[in-house]
Amino acid sequence: MEKIILEIKNSQEKLIKIVMSDMVKDGEYNKTTLQQITLKGELYWQAERIKNNQAHHSNISNADIEAWLIAELSHYRQINLVCNGTNITYFLKQNGKYRRLQAENKLAKPTSKAHNNVKNYILDEGENIPALIDLGVFNNEYKIIKSKYDKYKQINRFVEIVDDMFKDSGRDNITILDFGSGKSYLTFIIYYYFTVKKGINAKIIGYDLKADVVADCNAIAEKYGYDNLKFIVSDVAVDNLYNEKIDMVISLHACNTATDYALANAITRGVPYILSVPCCQHEVNSTISKGGDLDIMMRHGLIKERMSALLTDSIRAEVLEQYGYKVDMMEFVDFSHSPKNIMIRARLEGSGNRNLSNVKSLMSTYAFDQTLVKLLEK
Ligand SMILES: C[S@@+](CC[C@H](N)C(=O)[O-])C[C@H]1O[C@@H](n2cnc3c(N)ncnc32)[C@H](O)[C@@H]1O
Repeated sequence: MEKIILEIKNSQEKLIKIVMSDMVKDGEYNKTTLQQITLKGELYWQAERIKNNQAHHSNISNADIEAWLIAELSHYRQINLVCNGTNITYFLKQNGKYRRLQAENKLAKPTSKAHNNVKNYILDEGENIPALIDLGVFNNEYKIIKSKYDKYKQINRFVEIVDDMFKDSGRDNITILDFGSGKSYLTFIIYYYFTVKKGINAKIIGYDLKADVVADCNAIAEKYGYDNLKFIVSDVAVDNLYNEKIDMVISLHACNTATDYALANAITRGVPYILSVPCCQHEVNSTISKGGDLDIMMRHGLIKERMSALLTDSIRAEVLEQYGYKVDMMEFVDFSHSPKNIMIRARLEGSGNRNLSNVKSLMSTYAFDQTLVKLLEK
């Protein structure tokens, strides 16, 4: 046991994770995984312990880790130190001694303890994020399933942007609503990122129309003990949504006007942060008529459709600015990963002029409907 602890100490720089498995008779958790993390500048060890298919997370300070390991290691017959470049496994023998095996580890990538500063670390392939296996994004070896690569790339980027936006707040809790959460890859990852990786107290609610998908997502959240991650069957255009203080509204490819309901909800409740990637902007395209200088863009269906989508998002940005948000329109992933790649990133900075005359003038010239404007006029 002392040899293992010494090896852990000596390998700390290249250590990616420690996996303890093959529980002895009197053990409580079937499997324990330990990873190093940094919380508020301090090194911690994050333990994920699995019992009855539920994951339980805790953070152990670096000062306490040796005592914790002495107590914990004795509950397992197999201790695996996954390091950058090597895989070291200790097997407990009948005589109470350990056999040590060492093998090359081609898969493992270097990890960083300072994950607050490191891009892409949160979703590194090979990281032990079990929910991603249930969601069909990772296979059992935590490798990305090929068909999910683009989605994975999108989520990865989205989470980075969420993190960039929120980290300046210095807060240790966050409440997020996700409009049109669907299969909820993004929702799960944001929850995992905040609660497991950053030790932030996150509460997230995902809304979606599809009852079966919502039930599946709730079952996965329950399986991993994600107590403050909930999914609710809801039509965001009609239903009453969570009415307490919200820090962030997100939507990723919420169809057509569902994005407008997300934005209107955030604006009317003064939600400080909004991240929204629209798609299927059909409303303007299906209602717009010729009537001014833009008529040239309505002669061909394809151009009309693209122009309408851009007009929709331009109006959304203008409305947000008029309601006090600082808005950036950004390509959040490369077009090759998703053609629906414009993200509206908005941060509340004041109360704004609340003057929608520019938008209304366009709407009256071209006689189109736009739900966000309509909702704010109510
Ligand atoms: C393209 S999927 C995106 C799902 C998820 N955000 C993602 O990126 O993987 C759009 C989701 O929005 C949901 N949706 C569309 N209109 C909605 C509405 N009015 N209320 C709630 N959900 C809605 C759909 O059911 C669908 O699951």
